[in-house]
Amino acid sequence: MTEVPPPIALPGSVNLIAACDENRLIGNKGRLPWRIREDWLWFLANTTGGACVIGRLSFEAMLRGSSVNEKRRFFVVSKNSGLSGSFSEVFPDYPAALAAAKASGRPVWICGGERIYAESLASCDRLYLTRVHARFEGDAWLPDWSAQFPGKPLWKRDGADGRCSYSFEVYERR
Ligand SMILES: NC(=O)c1ccc[n+]([C@@H]2O[C@H](COP(=O)([O-])OP(=O)(O)OC[C@H]3O[C@@H](n4cnc5c(N)ncnc54)[C@H](OP(=O)(O)O)[C@@H]3O)[C@@H](O)[C@H]2O)c1
Repeated sequence: MTEVPPPIALPGSVNLIAACDENRLIGNKGRLPWRIREDWLWFLANTTGGACVIGRLSFEAMLRGSSVNEKRRFFVVSKNSGLSGSFSEVFPDYPAALAAAKASGRPVWICGGERIYAESLASCDRLYLTRVHARFEGDAWLPDWSAQFPGKPLWKRDGADGRCSYSFEVYERR
């Protein structure tokens, strides 16, 4: 049977993308609590061509990898304007970053961390969530989305690696 692909994010739409465990944990000491390669590929595939709104610490983590390139633009929330570059612009607060990301005409992806997720939830049209079916130690969480995105996901695919199982889920605001 042919697998149905996840719904495509439309230009100008605001989409939160995050991975969380069973307690909505997203981070530990500045890093992800887990290493799930398929989730990283999911993030890269969805955000290609998009406008990524992201906090400074999460952006600095991206800079240490290879995802800051021509495939996506970053709208970084920080007081440190030195993070501007060929593929990134810096904004002093979330509303300014969101406005610029929307004006780019690309699908907007809210990429964390904790404060950005909390501030953005009310402005999101969809959630692209990786639900990790385990409990980890950590210090950063996703806000409770259940009141704003109740019920079953619009789309879901289960996955697993040698260490844990997870589900990719897309929720739409009703
Ligand atoms: N599981 C996931 O999907 C996921 C995704 C992203 C991040 N994470 C995890 O989350 C953790 C990082 O999150 P975090 O919340 O600590 O850091 P963060 O949001 O990435 O960065 C915090 C910094 O961003 C700026 N900032 C963030 N929100 C702001 C706001 N609303 N207004 C003004 N400035 C704002 C400030 O920068 P300045 O100090 O420069 O002004 C602040 O110090 C890490 O553990 C990371 O691995 C997980």
